[in-house]
Amino acid sequence: MATEHRIALIPGDGIGTEVLPPATAVLDKVGARHGITFRYDDFDWCCERYLHEGAMMPANGLDQIRHHDAILLGAVGWPGVPDHVSLWGLLIPIRRQFDQYVNLRPIKVMPGVPSPVRSAEPGLEFVVVRENVEGEYSEVGGRFHRGFADEMAVQESIFTRPGVTRILDYAFELAATRRNVVTSATKSNGIVHTMPFWDELVAEAGLRHPDVRWHQEHIDALVAKVVLDPSRFDVIVGSNLFGDILSDLAAAVAGSIGIAPAGNLNPSREFPSMFEPVHGSAPDIAGKGVANPLGAIWSAAMMLDHLGHPDAGAEVVAAMVDVLGNTPVRTADLGGTASTEEFTKTLLDRI
Ligand code: NAI
Ligand code: MG
Repeated sequence: MATEHRIALIPGDGIGTEVLPPATAVLDKVGARHGITFRYDDFDWCCERYLHEGAMMPANGLDQIRHHDAILLGAVGWPGVPDHVSLWGLLIPIRRQFDQYVNLRPIKVMPGVPSPVRSAEPGLEFVVVRENVEGEYSEVGGRFHRGFADEMAVQESIFTRPGVTRILDYAFELAATRRNVVTSATKSNGIVHTMPFWDELVAEAGLRHPDVRWHQEHIDALVAKVVLDPSRFDVIVGSNLFGDILSDLAAAVAGSIGIAPAGNLNPSREFPSMFEPVHGSAPDIAGKGVANPLGAIWSAAMMLDHLGHPDAGAEVVAAMVDVLGNTPVRTADLGGTASTEEFTKTLLDRI
């Protein structure tokens, strides 16, 4: 039976525009094998639009993509537009208005992609589950006495029982489908209100999921362990800030920021979820046709999982492993000489 999905494409800035065409080409190829077709709508929301029109996206932008099945995003951010403007003008409204409260970042050491961490063997994999809509990244706070000698800034963290509980339940349920271990990132020795609250809710989640083992680590010790002994982890769950830092660290442990994917999930499926590579717009290599498309392609594979096609998603990941493990073809960030296009063609041939 043929299934059709409507996908909102937001290429964004820089190499974002170079890595989405490979991702859609892969989707079309694997879709054809599984009776899935994709209908894409393109949205030119980016920093250039901001410079011309004063906004990253139109005022009714979210309404334009609300009814799509999923969103595939390249990267946003460009020199000349402050990063907090591009982030809060596009990515954060999508994540929050569409209640994408899970940021899911799988980490996998691919064959033929050396990790800078000696103990990270090919095949090593774990996943970081980051709370994505509250926590430390809040709008609550302000600046006082701007420009005076006693100038000050206050930034509040917001941790709610429902918000923390649902991300923990997601992490525990995910662990139950994997190796059954949750590691909670905390800092309840230094942060004395929100983090003890987080720890209490972790213990409650542990009671609700008695078959899953869990432990907690202070974030400072945890980052050291991710580097020293990454194989001990299965699911790491953290607040918005801790999860953000952990997931970039983990992507680096896997050997390249150009490969790492992310899903911003609305598990209730009331709104579309958004899939995007972890990397940014890479102004230093943009326009040269040399960007590694794997982050975007793996993100598209996560989208296939989310849309109910795990077999198709697994085929894409298998093709990635195949190309990296069995051919010398790779982009410059992985020590190769292939262009984005050449690499994509090699990958497409192996699906
Ligand atoms: P970046 O990820 O764009 O680049 C960091 C380094 O990694 C650069 O040397 C770049 O060439 C390289 N790199 C990244 N992706 C690559 C790929 N696919 N293939 C080959 N090399 C790759 O991070 P940076 O430079 O800190 O940020 C640049 C802009 O991107 C900023 O405006 C930032 O705000 C934005 N950004 C956006 C993100 C998003 O849309 N989710 C995430 C991170 C940054
Ligand atoms: Mg980050």
